[in-house]
Amino acid sequence: MSSPQHDLIVIGAGPGGYVTAIRAAQLGLNVACVEREAALGGTCLRIGCIPSKALLESTERFHEAQTDFAVHGIRVSGMTADLPAMLERKEKIVATLTRGIDALFRKNKITRYKGHGAIAGAGRVTVRNETESTELAAKYILIATGSKPATLPGIVLGGPIGTSAEALAYSHVPHHLVVIGAGYIGLELGSVWRRLGAKVTVLEYLDRILPGMDSEIATEARKIFEKQGLEFRLGVKVLAARVDGDRATVECKGAEPLVCDRVLVAAGRVPNTDGLGLDTVGIKLDGRGRIPVGERFETSAAGVFAIGDVIRGPMLAHKAQEEGIACAEALVTGRGHVDYNTIPGVVYTHPEIATVGKSEDDLKRDNVPYRKGAFPFRANGRAHSLGQTDGKVKVLAHAETDRILGVHIIGPRAGELIAEAAAAMAFGASSEDIARVSHAHPTLAEAFKEAALAVDGRALHM
Ligand code: NAI
Repeated sequence: MSSPQHDLIVIGAGPGGYVTAIRAAQLGLNVACVEREAALGGTCLRIGCIPSKALLESTERFHEAQTDFAVHGIRVSGMTADLPAMLERKEKIVATLTRGIDALFRKNKITRYKGHGAIAGAGRVTVRNETESTELAAKYILIATGSKPATLPGIVLGGPIGTSAEALAYSHVPHHLVVIGAGYIGLELGSVWRRLGAKVTVLEYLDRILPGMDSEIATEARKIFEKQGLEFRLGVKVLAARVDGDRATVECKGAEPLVCDRVLVAAGRVPNTDGLGLDTVGIKLDGRGRIPVGERFETSAAGVFAIGDVIRGPMLAHKAQEEGIACAEALVTGRGHVDYNTIPGVVYTHPEIATVGKSEDDLKRDNVPYRKGAFPFRANGRAHSLGQTDGKVKVLAHAETDRILGVHIIGPRAGELIAEAAAAMAFGASSEDIARVSHAHPTLAEAFKEAALAVDGRALHM
């Protein structure tokens, strides 16, 4: 019997893989997608972005009800957090969204294969599951297998020591949670458990939090998180973590060991390339375990492409999606492009932190002449009505051309506000362009306009 033949086989149904499959099907290709998990959507939908946002929302409401409602004239008493109900709500959201992808696959006539996909030579993919092994053939193969948590030498996962997957489902609020790594995951999940009452200690190797982000914004973020009760120990290298019964001991270089009841290892992620059959087509990984690709996401093997967390660049769902769309379009139309300079990054803490383009540190390092405009939310009417006046918007524009080079926001709904900045940058806007666009009053978005005005020293409400 001949193997089922497709134009494109996508390995991995995370946000990168499933969106590529849809776009390729829209463009008329006969597409298959191989996924080993029962649910589609990948880490992001099942055990990442979506469930973490569900818990961040629930716990933020709990925290708000406890600390901020009284200011609004709302009195509540006898309030408790129902953790099982929060976890159930999270599971329901995940189930609804993953089922949604099944429906999108049916609508777009994408064939789904359940099992572990591996390349078996040029144009061939084998799908293995508990019951069978199926051979598939395709003109093009796309690797979109994502990433998994990085482990650290000296740390064996198990029991109270786990990664984000476990920290999204602790059955009890930890008494003391030690988080290793002050990046996106450590801060988001550290916030969730802090709001529910855990003592949270974040250990970070560098002397700052959120590496890579604008350092002024990161410093402001640290101060706000400290006020919320997160404890940071910076410049601390974790050497080992071991289980002692139902507790764990974390050993750090030059510091007393920490004893706690949960450890969250959030020290980065590494590409998922195990058992992919890359050797059958001669693909070699780079020094960081990533698949090298060219401008159109082509690997060194003809007909094999890769996108998302398995290749270079930030490990972000929306970056993987843009790459997948560009890859599918390039295959069919010959054209496809990703503007890496306008990919936003958002940390969904409270307040949120959002960034796009160059940081002030980048511009200084590269000797780019720039002008800076900043506007604090404490001078924004809508922020006052929300009761969320921490933070600011910072706009960085080229000193000669005024073109916006970067926008950094810490404050209420920063993750939504950054979309305007990304769109402005994608269209090559200057700070003057934004300053002359009417922004509805009273909105948080006015803070972006004011920061753009501030680049030229003419903010109106400061
Ligand atoms: P990260 O790279 O953001 O942060 C890891 C932190 O761990 C770094 O600050 C690093 O210096 C520190 N570290 C490493 N080894 C250490 C050691 N031995 N001792 C102490 N500190 C150590 O990685 P994270 O938070 O695990 O997230 C992984 C990826 O997932 C990121 O690339 C991120 O982009 C993505 N992500 C994105 C989210 C979003 O868009 N909101 C949410 C969650 C994850």
